[in-house]
Amino acid sequence: MRKAICPGSFDPVTHGHLDIIERASKIFDEVVVGVGTNTSKNTLFSTEERVDMMTLATSHLPNIVVRQISGLLVTYCEEHGIGSIVKGLRFAGDFEYELQMAQMNARMSDVETILLPTSSEWSFISSTLVREIAKVDGDISEFVPEVVAQRLAERNKG
Ligand code: PNS
Repeated sequence: MRKAICPGSFDPVTHGHLDIIERASKIFDEVVVGVGTNTSKNTLFSTEERVDMMTLATSHLPNIVVRQISGLLVTYCEEHGIGSIVKGLRFAGDFEYELQMAQMNARMSDVETILLPTSSEWSFISSTLVREIAKVDGDISEFVPEVVAQRLAERNKG
């Protein structure tokens, strides 16, 4: 079975992330969506909340499993029989960062990285901008799945 991982902090998951996850699910037999925490970022949503939102947002895809991940990504891949990491590229800045990580991960393991260009429909979206717009009561419903729009609205009320 050909398994891949789509890792990210997904704080929160956007249509840009879902575009990459759905396309990866057509290429691989099973795709693990690895919800992790970037140690240099503070997250708005807890890991449990991010896993829950991602599980709901991908429930229509039969070959997706959502898991919390921690530690070194390539170690997780080796321990779970995952041969490929799939990441999305929105613009040139993403490429520089992703290339460096892909080369580092290749040096540390046999895990391959596949970089998919994000669909132009969603390439301007980032979780950071979604959080910023939602915080000042802007409408983010076009950019995120419904469950995320609801959770952001609840978070901003509370
Ligand atoms: O792009 P994101 O959303 O900030 O990614 C977050 C995450 C957790 C997927 C990323 O920070 C990661 O892969 N962490 C695992 C630690 C690791 O393997 N670091 C070495 C990368 S070369």
